[in-house]
Amino acid sequence: MSNASPPCPPVPDCPELVDQPITYSDVQGTILRGYRVDHARHFILSITQAAGARAVIAALVDGTGGLPRITTAERWANKPDCFVNVAFTATGLTQLGVAKEQLATFDPSFLLGATNAQTAQKVGDVNASAPTNWIGGMADGAAVHAVLSLWVHKNPEVLDRVTDALTTAFAGCITVLSTHDATALPDNQVHFGYRDNIAQPTVQGAPPRKRPMPDAQCEVPTGEFLLGYKNASSGTYSQQPVELSTNGSYAAFRILEQDSKAFEDFLDTYAPAVGLTPEMLAAKVCGRWRNGNPLVLDPDGGIPCLPTEQLNDFHYRDDTHPAQDDRLGLMCPAGSHIRRTNPRDSAVQGGAPSIHRIVRRAMPYGPAYDPADPQSAATPRGLVGYFINGSIFNQFEFLQSQWVQQAGFVMSCTQPWAPKNGNAHWNISGEDVFLGVNTPATSSFTLPVAGPASGNKAVKGFSSMITTRGGAYVFFPSITGLRYLAALPAASAPPAS
Ligand code: HEM
Repeated sequence: MSNASPPCPPVPDCPELVDQPITYSDVQGTILRGYRVDHARHFILSITQAAGARAVIAALVDGTGGLPRITTAERWANKPDCFVNVAFTATGLTQLGVAKEQLATFDPSFLLGATNAQTAQKVGDVNASAPTNWIGGMADGAAVHAVLSLWVHKNPEVLDRVTDALTTAFAGCITVLSTHDATALPDNQVHFGYRDNIAQPTVQGAPPRKRPMPDAQCEVPTGEFLLGYKNASSGTYSQQPVELSTNGSYAAFRILEQDSKAFEDFLDTYAPAVGLTPEMLAAKVCGRWRNGNPLVLDPDGGIPCLPTEQLNDFHYRDDTHPAQDDRLGLMCPAGSHIRRTNPRDSAVQGGAPSIHRIVRRAMPYGPAYDPADPQSAATPRGLVGYFINGSIFNQFEFLQSQWVQQAGFVMSCTQPWAPKNGNAHWNISGEDVFLGVNTPATSSFTLPVAGPASGNKAVKGFSSMITTRGGAYVFFPSITGLRYLAALPAASAPPAS
């Protein structure tokens, strides 16, 4: 069957992007900048009195009343000791007085919200991950109105100082439903032991990363991450009023609990069955070794640690150099986490990979897993933060529902020089080992081998090792947008519920 498959369609050239400068001072910083911090605290908020909440927003925009100023994407001469950003749910915007007709122009997925049954089904928040099980007041999506996040570099005491100031400001108008802290692990690791914070989209016009990370992929048009700019489909995500459109962005806020013991057990149990070491299986399910080296540049794990500037400089297809071509996923499986969530130049269904990119701003919570400590396995740990995009529908939800949870999106095409080597379409099965809805009855992860797919190996029968514990779909207004919200007339606000 693979012999009859066509060669992959050519990789399109990078489009010439129209230069549209971004007013950094109008953009909430976390959208375009990684803060490179050690601690974060996320506040899940419910607005009980709109006028007071609007006054808090005004104070945050101006940095008055003892509150820190909302961090923008502007360059700073000295790194601030605290970064702060705030985003609202659809009900939060309604509480503040945004009119129904205006809200109707917002992203339809945002309007449905993260706890909606249809949304949950779509993104795989089912079984233990179902919103009804969510913690910290997030199970009742209608009660969650905003997520405010603080990030601090070295000094966790700053978090407590700013928390005190916020608590005073919130009195009588905003209830804190819960707070969620995150703390960086050494060497940019996340739980499960992988180095993270390597691959991010290079957004046209965004401030350059502090530590440059050359990227073999095209720049992504600004409009994929900021409303009001040209996006990758040559359109513009925009909504009404204009103050709540330009320079705003959306995010899926997620609390994802990781069962580190189950993951290590999975590696130890399944690796021997497919003739791999546990470390190699860990690399195959992610697409990177735990030290960050991508499999396509270090297929056998023979290189100690690639220089940082090489870690993101790779692609999956090479039409002229057979040794560097991995369209079949023999080095980095098509079903690995990084290849599902960003197939780069792989041939896939569902539009070009460039229209489904996502900015990740999440950090670990909970202590590192210690296999020697019997109590450690039961301690909650995971990843908490934002997955940022111009369209929740086209980006976060597309990734979760199409590429993470399905296997049929890899196109049927062969290597031009050796079509008998196999066919990428048959070299993937099941769902993402990290993010999929994996049950013993359905789970499957293919380890392709050269030649016909009938020779492939697969790991089957494992369960999900990551559980969604909380979430919210939120909108980050621009600074102009925050001022607009702060100035909404009291008369247009509905009574607080
Ligand atoms: C606890 C949950 C998660 C874990 C443990 C995890 C782990 C990782 C790791 C280790 C990497 C490689 C490091 C890097 O390339 O920077 C990575 C990359 C990535 N992850 Fe996740 N991830 C999680 C959740 C998610 C979610 C919810 C999404 C989006 C829906 C996502 C999307 C991505 C993307 C887009 C990349 C970069 C791929 C690339 O550009 O090559 N991840 N993740």
